[in-house]
Amino acid sequence: MATVQEKIALLKKKQEKVKLGGGVKRIEKQHASGKMTARERIEKLFDAGTFVELDQFVTHRCVNFGMSEKELPGEGVVTGYGTIDGRLVYAFAQDFTVEGGSLGEMHAAKIVKVQNLALKMGAPIVGINDSGGARIQEAVDALAGYGKIFLNNTLASGVIPQISVIMGPCAGGAVYSPALTDFIYMVKNTSQMFITGPQVIKSVTAEEVTSEALGGAMTHNSVSGVAHFATENEDDCLQQIRYLLSFLPSNNLEEAPVYETGDDANRMDEGLNSLLPDNSNMPYDMKDVIKAIVDNGEFYEVQPHFAQNIITCYARFDGQTVGIIANQPKVMAGCLDINASDKSARFIRCCDAFNIPLVNLVDVPGFLPGTDQEYGGIIRHGAKMLYAYSEATVPKITLITRKAYGGSYLAMCSQDLGADQVLAWPTSEIAVMGPAGAANIIFRGAADAAEKTAQYVEEFATPYKAAERGFVDIVIEPKETRPRIITALNMLASKREARPAKKHGNIPL
Ligand code: HXC
Repeated sequence: MATVQEKIALLKKKQEKVKLGGGVKRIEKQHASGKMTARERIEKLFDAGTFVELDQFVTHRCVNFGMSEKELPGEGVVTGYGTIDGRLVYAFAQDFTVEGGSLGEMHAAKIVKVQNLALKMGAPIVGINDSGGARIQEAVDALAGYGKIFLNNTLASGVIPQISVIMGPCAGGAVYSPALTDFIYMVKNTSQMFITGPQVIKSVTAEEVTSEALGGAMTHNSVSGVAHFATENEDDCLQQIRYLLSFLPSNNLEEAPVYETGDDANRMDEGLNSLLPDNSNMPYDMKDVIKAIVDNGEFYEVQPHFAQNIITCYARFDGQTVGIIANQPKVMAGCLDINASDKSARFIRCCDAFNIPLVNLVDVPGFLPGTDQEYGGIIRHGAKMLYAYSEATVPKITLITRKAYGGSYLAMCSQDLGADQVLAWPTSEIAVMGPAGAANIIFRGAADAAEKTAQYVEEFATPYKAAERGFVDIVIEPKETRPRIITALNMLASKREARPAKKHGNIPL
């Protein structure tokens, strides 16, 4: 019979073994490739010493292809909970040193358990992916495991923030758990996502591509739009996740935490009165407007490398989180296109799900013309923006800085799409189309076309036609923008808006 002390010693020995994962050699290999181990990542992500690991001793029960001989410490995944900035967060981190972090039945069961806990407790979950995908020896049991994870991702969508982190390979169907979550972080040069890898592509289409070019961080951040953040290294990535969480509530029944930012709510910015060029066809940087109005000029951009003609970011006004959607006149004159519509519609819905007010900064000449856009379905993609804004019940504040023409005026959340407060700078131009386009149609062939176009600019390229109908609530001086937005947010704090009961809407996809 073992003594009590021997039993305690045995526990420690078992714990040590699990902590060593796939062993020293594989840990060294992981470090040599610029990657941390699963446990090191967890340590960096959570507040020091708060992480509680669950299911350390779970083991697989596969007997195929010599698996009965194989011990897989921790089943190749670390799961548990801890705090980030003092708030409860759940996490799982796949351990590449154990059978390539491959996912089998019990590996999946560990992930499913923390997903269920996170949902029950109303706390965010962070999933760190570093895996060779479905554990080949476990066949359909591995696929069933993925299925359960995908189902849970979907059930938790819009209830708790779900953040996916790619810190190694993430291939095949395994990409769909991250794809179902709210945010995907990738690390430059060490993470890849693809449905079929370079070898399969070569054998099927003869196309040659490296795995980084196919599915690396910058590919998914700037080309495909699959990922939301590209980070320099793993340390940077984990710090950014902590920062993102500071903007979000823990679940859909809570408000985002309010921070004391130290910035004056009544602060005016004289610089804004001279930011816009006199010629309204000249560009300016909308980020200068954002910096001038938010607390301490600080904002966190989501998808900064994708569809740069629109900016989506989190920031604070008087300590309160808002989601900003802003046209960027510096890129494609701020036109809306397919990618900008998808990017902003998703951001709007994420903010609405998590009770984050929307601030829309509008300077949009229209939708991008062209067969590429029409054949690509700009009609159904642009419709997502209209749908997302109309559906959103959070406070919606729209500020028109300059152009707001036609359908894009509506797509950027006009009053009729439910904006609760519409502010406009005196430089605003709100009409069906710009003067040049209008002249082409209604003054075509007229002897006094130039004169009429000048008259159009005088009368229509202003905020006052819209203000006459009450579509603009207040015309403000640019320098007053920050206090005006904060006053509007305070006024809207008690907003309650019901929607007709339904199973769910049918957003155009
Ligand atoms: C079982 C796996 C594995 C897997 C890796 N390993 N992937 N074991 N099932 N899917 C094991 C290896 O045998 C090896 O074991 C260890 O993990 C490390 O792998 P290496 O190949 O040595 O590492 P590396 O050279 O860095 O290459 C990593 C890799 C490669 C690119 C991920 O391992 C690979 O191509 N794996 C298979 C990827 C794949 O096709 N997966 C299925 C995708 S389909 P030892 O004992 O030598 O250390 C899929 C479907 C999901 O996932 C469906 C959801 C709906």
